Amino acid sequence: MKMHEELVQSFNDAVKKELESAYKYESMALWLRYHNLDGMAHWMHLQAEEELEHAVKFREYIELRGNRVRLMAIQEPKGDYKSALETFEDGLHAEIAVTQWVLSMRELAIKHKDEGAVLLLDWFIREQEAEENTAQSILDKFTLAGITHETHHGAAIYLLDKELGARGK
Ligand SMILES: [Fe+2]
Repeated sequence: MKMHEELVQSFNDAVKKELESAYKYESMALWLRYHNLDGMAHWMHLQAEEELEHAVKFREYIELRGNRVRLMAIQEPKGDYKSALETFEDGLHAEIAVTQWVLSMRELAIKHKDEGAVLLLDWFIREQEAEENTAQSILDKFTLAGITHETHHGAAIYLLDKELGARGK
C-alpha cells in the first residue's frame, strides 16, 4: 500500500537530510586531513559513508511502498572549523537534530496509522541513539585528554587521532 503523500514528503526530506549529513561529515574529514589529523579524517569519512547508507535505506523504502522518490538540493556544508574538537561537537549537534527529525517523522507515521513506516523509523531511532552515544563518547575523550579548541598539536591530540584512525566501520 502506498504511503500517504504527507509521509512521502517527509521521507523525501529524510533522504535529503541524510545526504546533507554525509556531506557535513565529508567536509569535516577534508578539513581534518588538511590539518594532518588523518585518523580523525578517516573516522569522519566512514561516518559519511554510514549517512549515505541511511539515505539509501530511506530511498529504498519509498520505492518499496510504490511511492516516488524526489531528490532535492542539498545544502553546502560548513568548510572551516576552529579546531578538531569543533568538528566532533558539530557532529553531535547534527545527530541530535536528526534524532528530533526522525521522532517527528514517527509522529506523522502514527498519525497516518502507517505501521510499516513506524517499524522502519523505530530502527532509525535506535540507530540515532547509538550515533549520539558514540559522538558523546568521543567528546568525552577529548575532555579526558585535555584537548580544547586551542589544542592544535601535542601528544594528546596525536594519540586520539591514532585511536580514531583505528575505526573499522
Ligand atoms: Fe543518519
